[in-house]
Order: sequence, then C-alpha cells, then structure tokens
Amino acid sequence: MHEPVLLTEALEGLAIRPDGLYLDGTFGRGGHSRGILERLGPTGSLIALDRDPEAERAAQALRDPRFTFVRTAFSALGEALAGRNANGMLFDLGVSSPQLEDAARGFSFRRDGPLDMRMDPQAGESAAQWLAGAEEQQIREVIREYGEERFAKQIAAAIVAARSREPLVRTAQLADLVAKAVRTREPGQDPATRTFQALRIHVNRELEEVSLMLPQALAALGEGGRLVVISFHSLEDRIVKRFLQSLSRPDVPARLPLRAAEMPQPALRIVGRAVRASAEETRRNPRARSAILRVAERTAGPLQPKFRIEPGARWRN
Ligand SMILES: C[S@@+](CC[C@H](N)C(=O)[O-])C[C@H]1O[C@@H](n2cnc3c(N)ncnc32)[C@H](O)[C@@H]1O
Repeated sequence: MHEPVLLTEALEGLAIRPDGLYLDGTFGRGGHSRGILERLGPTGSLIALDRDPEAERAAQALRDPRFTFVRTAFSALGEALAGRNANGMLFDLGVSSPQLEDAARGFSFRRDGPLDMRMDPQAGESAAQWLAGAEEQQIREVIREYGEERFAKQIAAAIVAARSREPLVRTAQLADLVAKAVRTREPGQDPATRTFQALRIHVNRELEEVSLMLPQALAALGEGGRLVVISFHSLEDRIVKRFLQSLSRPDVPARLPLRAAEMPQPALRIVGRAVRASAEETRRNPRARSAILRVAERTAGPLQPKFRIEPGARWRN
C-alpha cells in the first residue's frame, strides 16, 4: 500500500472549499485524492492525473460522481482542465511505494527485475535502453547531477565496460556494478541509491515535468486558489521554491520610482513556511523523511507576461 505523505498538512494547505474544483496531479493510489473527496461537498469536484497505467487501474476503483481521472503527464494539466480554473492543486512528486516495490517496474535495487524505471512503461525509453546507447559522458553527468553522486565517473566507466561484455538489462546487474564502483558507504543507505534515483529522474524527465507544470498550475488557479507541492529531493524542491519565491515578489525594475501602493501585486502569496513530516510520521512511514511541502495562494495580481503560457514554453530553474 501507499501511505499518503503529509496528508493532513496537504489538505490544510489546500484550504478546501466544499463546492470547489480541485486537481490532484499525482494520483498514485489515491490517498490524497480520497482525503480531498472527503472534504468536498456534493457540488465539489476533483480531477486526478497520473501517467502510470497502474494508477489508472486504481482510480477506476474509486467510484464517485465528483471524481474524474485522466491518464496523462501533469505537464499537460492545462489540457486536462480544458480552460477551467481550479480552487486548488496538489502535486505529491516522485514515485509511489507500489512503483518502487514492484520488481517488474525496475525501480528497485533491492528486488531484481527488468531495468525499466518508466512511470509510463508505454512511453519513452527504459533505463536499459538509455544506458545501452548513451555516451559515457552523458551517463556520468546524469548520475552526478541527478544523483549528486561523488563516484559518478567510476560508475559511468563501469557501466560502459559492463555493457561491452553483455547487455545491461536487470536491476541486480546495475546494483552490483554500482556497489563495486562506489568506494565509500553512507550509513543506512545502499550504494546504488543515488544512481537509481538519477536514472529514474532522467528516464522520466522529472525535473522538466515540474518546470513545465508550475507555470500551467499558476495560469489555471483561480483567485484565492491554493498550490500545494510535496517534493522528495533537493533538486525538485529548488525548482518549486524558486518559482514560488519569484512569483511572490513584486516584479518591478528596481529603477522605477514606485510607491508601495503603486506596485503591481505579485501573482502568488506564499502561505506559511515549508513543512516537514513529524518524527511520528517518519517513524511510521520512512518515505516521509525527505518530504518537504510548500503552499502558495493565487492572488488577484496580474500574471506577468513572462509567465503567460505559450505552447511548448517552459520555466527554467
Ligand atoms: C508519490 S506518488 C503519489 C501518491 C499519492 N499522493 C497517493 O496518496 O497515493 C507520485 C505519483 O505521481 C505520478 N507521477 C510522477 N510524475 C508524474 C508526472 N510528471 N505526470 C503524471 N504523473 C506523475 C507517479 O506515477 C506516481 O503514481
């Protein structure tokens, strides 16, 4: 099962109006979605997205006339909302426990399985396909940047040497090879953790997805609407934090002599501080250890032209 992380805090952050329209951009197994539905009245509604076919299957079991599921990447949330404004949106980023625990999905270094790692196994390249064709330097950069791995150079060299002997197609092959290339051990952490994280982020274009999602979420939030994002590593949290910070500051060239009352109101207001899971929740659910939740509210302020969404536009960190 997947236990939703920071459930109470996420629902509080959404400040749910019983008659509102909400979007859960990362349905997973629907833990947060169920919490939202419990707080909605009969005229409220919830649209949930996920790109994983297993999440879609789980969503089909949720029979509620107020609920709709769309299998799509959250970078396409604008299309899923089809011009409607939402009163709140939640994004619980990363992978779910069922994805990690199902060996057949290839996310796990503990359980041997095909080296896949795609959240949507019907789209894009698997980790094995990418590793078979990528340049050594590309592999090194992905592992260094997305895994923040000190031994990226040694791991990339070991991958390239191994693939010239036999195809690298199982998670156990990769985990063994990484364990040999990483010369030190971090307490309580498998040596393959960072490399698997890096490949997963790359294969699923996770940071690009977040960068594309944020401006669309902003554009589709109604006035007073809440944006709640739960991140699990510093790379995605940094993108979220910078976006929220830059949109919650008045966007006026410093040399313009404007009085406070004349300043255009920023499009977002940050609500509270970043929230982490309590010791009690982390004990119950170790996945919550690295979670960080941020909340912002859409104001009546204008959207600055640079944050109007053009087709194919992206917000960069
Ligand atoms: C941490 S889990 C969410 C768990 C969920 N909140 C629950 O309570 O069950 C993240 C989910 O988001 C999905 N996901 C991640 N990135 C996505 C993206 N860019 N577009 C659509 N779904 C995505 C994954 O497939 C996974 O099911």
